[in-house]
Amino acid sequence: MIRKGLEGVKICKSSICFLDGENGRLYYRGIPVEELAEKSSFEETAYLLWFGKLPTKIELENFRKKMAECRELSDESVRMLHNLPKGLHYIDVLKIFLSIQGSTDEVDEDLEDKAIKIASVFPTILAYYYRYSQGKEIIRPRKDLSHVENFYYMMFGDTNGKVHLLESTFILLMEQDINASTFAALVIASTLSDMYSSIVGALGALKGPLHGGASEKVPPMLEEIGNEDRVEAFVQKCLSEKRKIMGFGHRVYRTFDPRAVYLKKVLQEHFSESRLFKIAQRLEEYIVSNRIKNIYPNVDLYSSILFEEFGFPRNMFTALFATARVVGWTAHVIEYVNDNKLIRPTSEYVGPLNVEYISIERRDEDGQNSC
Ligand SMILES: CC(C)(COP(=O)(O)OP(=O)(O)OC[C@H]1O[C@@H](n2cnc3c(N)ncnc32)[C@H](O)[C@@H]1OP(=O)(O)O)[C@@H](O)C(=O)NCCC(=O)NCCS
Repeated sequence: MIRKGLEGVKICKSSICFLDGENGRLYYRGIPVEELAEKSSFEETAYLLWFGKLPTKIELENFRKKMAECRELSDESVRMLHNLPKGLHYIDVLKIFLSIQGSTDEVDEDLEDKAIKIASVFPTILAYYYRYSQGKEIIRPRKDLSHVENFYYMMFGDTNGKVHLLESTFILLMEQDINASTFAALVIASTLSDMYSSIVGALGALKGPLHGGASEKVPPMLEEIGNEDRVEAFVQKCLSEKRKIMGFGHRVYRTFDPRAVYLKKVLQEHFSESRLFKIAQRLEEYIVSNRIKNIYPNVDLYSSILFEEFGFPRNMFTALFATARVVGWTAHVIEYVNDNKLIRPTSEYVGPLNVEYISIERRDEDGQNSC
């Protein structure tokens, strides 16, 4: 039987995440994600996903230090980032950096150590390239700040009293079972390739607008709508043109995405005056109450507005998503290769067989006879 898009196909057993699509619930290692977003930190949730348990105080302290020590880039890497052409997409910057790093990194390191190293350095790569693109001096990472505080600091040279909201968003984005990008990472890992290659593949998959790239499409779409009164006309136009409404729909959630529900509340509490948020809320109200295609808002609808409020450039939104999701990707790679099986699906061949090979001299000018 063909399962287009591998819909509903289970490819492995996993104890990392449970996504209950019918009831709109998401758990990391059994803990409801809302609780982690509310009470945990980036480092603590990453530890949970990588090592399968919440850390003790000492474990967390040591782990924080380890991540902080992995933040800085070598002088050579800094020069490389500086010399990249300006205006690249931030996902591509990450891919370039990781491809180079993957060729020169130690081969026989623990996979967990490799994962920590890769995740710790994402914010530095993004912030340095951002500052270079703006013609500004780079800001070196600070070890006394948490992972997310330090990211904000390296970007904007400042601290922000609301940075915990950004941290909650990263926690919500950190993991989501075998989605397209995690699957891409696993396909590569299953060939026993290196972890950097898995993450480069995952980044490529995430960039697409049907996946993480939707976050960059949401703000321009809300601007195109312009105001709350134009929501209905916009939705009807999309339906008649068979155009996807960005930030809505999901392969697994058949009801509200719990991450969207959480972020909507955050925005209501802290950014209720945002013009884009007002339009997004009205869009949700119209689509859900009219049961349009039975779709619901997904995490990208509201995370993109939050990223906008924090002042990140729009072409960095997918890379911000990746800054969190890299933890889930690497956790799955580690789990999968422990009980590895090469991922190699097949197709149902529907073409002809035993077709005659026609020499180039005998082929028609119009190519009719060529295969
Ligand atoms: C995420 C997504 C790819 C899931 O798609 P899927 O599981 O393959 O579901 P389908 O695309 O087959 O959707 C089923 C139906 O709902 C419609 N649909 C799904 N999402 C839609 C959306 N965002 N806008 C308009 N229609 C949508 C499809 O057109 C299809 O209609 P049809 O049966 O008349 O052809 C899809 O919902 C989408 O493209 N969303 C917009 C992009 C986005 O926000 N991505 C981030 C996901 S977290």
